[in-house]
Amino acid sequence: MLNIKKLWKNGKTNENLEVRIESVKRQKMPKHIAIIMDGNGRWAKKRSLPRVAGHHEGMKVVRKITRLANHLGVGALTLYAFSTENWKRPKLEVEFLMKLPEEFLGTFLPELIEENVRVTMVGHKEHLPKHTRAAIEKAMEATKHNTGLVLNFALNYGSRAEIIEAVRDVLIDVKSGIMDPNDINETSFAQYLMTSELEDPDLLIRTSGEIRLSNFMLWQLAYSEFWFTDVLWPDFDEEHLIQAVEVFQKRSRRYGGINSEES
Ligand code: IPE
Ligand code: IPE
Ligand code: MG
Repeated sequence: MLNIKKLWKNGKTNENLEVRIESVKRQKMPKHIAIIMDGNGRWAKKRSLPRVAGHHEGMKVVRKITRLANHLGVGALTLYAFSTENWKRPKLEVEFLMKLPEEFLGTFLPELIEENVRVTMVGHKEHLPKHTRAAIEKAMEATKHNTGLVLNFALNYGSRAEIIEAVRDVLIDVKSGIMDPNDINETSFAQYLMTSELEDPDLLIRTSGEIRLSNFMLWQLAYSEFWFTDVLWPDFDEEHLIQAVEVFQKRSRRYGGINSEES
C-alpha cells in the first residue's frame, strides 16, 4: 500500500484531507469508479489557451487521481479518454489526443509498475494510430501481473457499438452451436462486452457540469451511483475524488428493493 505522504507533491501535506481519506477508507469503498473526464477545452478557453493545453493539463490529473484511487484500495478506475464520437473533432486536436497515452505512459509507466497498477483498455484498439496502440499495449504487457488498481482507459470507446458487437458475437456463437439461446441472460451477455473482466462501476463521476452519459457504459451503469460536478477536469483534484466517495458512502443502494430497516 502506498504511503499517504507520497500522494502529495514535494512532501506538502494536507492534514484535513488526510483525515477524510482515513475516514472513507474505513467505510464501503466503491470497487469500480468510472470517470467521464470532461471540460478540458473550456478550462483552456478560460485561460485563452488552445484546447489542447487543457488536454495536457488533464493528463496530470489522471496521475493524481490514479495514485489516490490506488491508495484507497479501489479495485478499478475507468477513465473515459476518447469516445467513438470524438473523431469528429478537428484533425489537430485528435492527433494531439492520440499522442497523450504515449506521453502519459512514457512518463508514468515506471511509477505505475512500482505502484502495482495494472493498465487495461476498453474500446476499438484496431482503429487507433499505431503509435497510440503500441504505447497502450506495452503498458498492458508490462503491468499484466500487477495486483493493485486496474487503470482502465476507455479509448475509442462507444457503448452502443459495444452492445451491437456483443449481440453479433452472441449470434455467431449461437449459430455455431457454442451458445444455447436459453443460456442468454444478463450474466452471460455481459461476458461478450468489452468490460467482461470488470465489475460494473459502483460510482460514475462526470466533470464540467454536463449531465449526460455521452455513449458511455450504457449497460454497465444500470445501477451505478452518479455524481456530477461543475469542476472542469483539469481542476479536479484529490479533494473532489474524496468528496465523491463520501457522497457515495452516504447513498442508499436499493436495487429496486427496500432498505432492511424498512421491512
Ligand atoms: C474532455 O474535454 C476530453 C475529451 C473529450 C477528449 P473536452 O475536450 O470535451 O472539453 P470541453 O467539453 O470542450 O470543455
Ligand atoms: C465525453 O465527452 C467523452 C470523453 C470525456 C472522452 P464529450 O465532451 O465528447 O461529450 P459531449 O460531446 O459533450 O456529449
Ligand atoms: Mg466535452
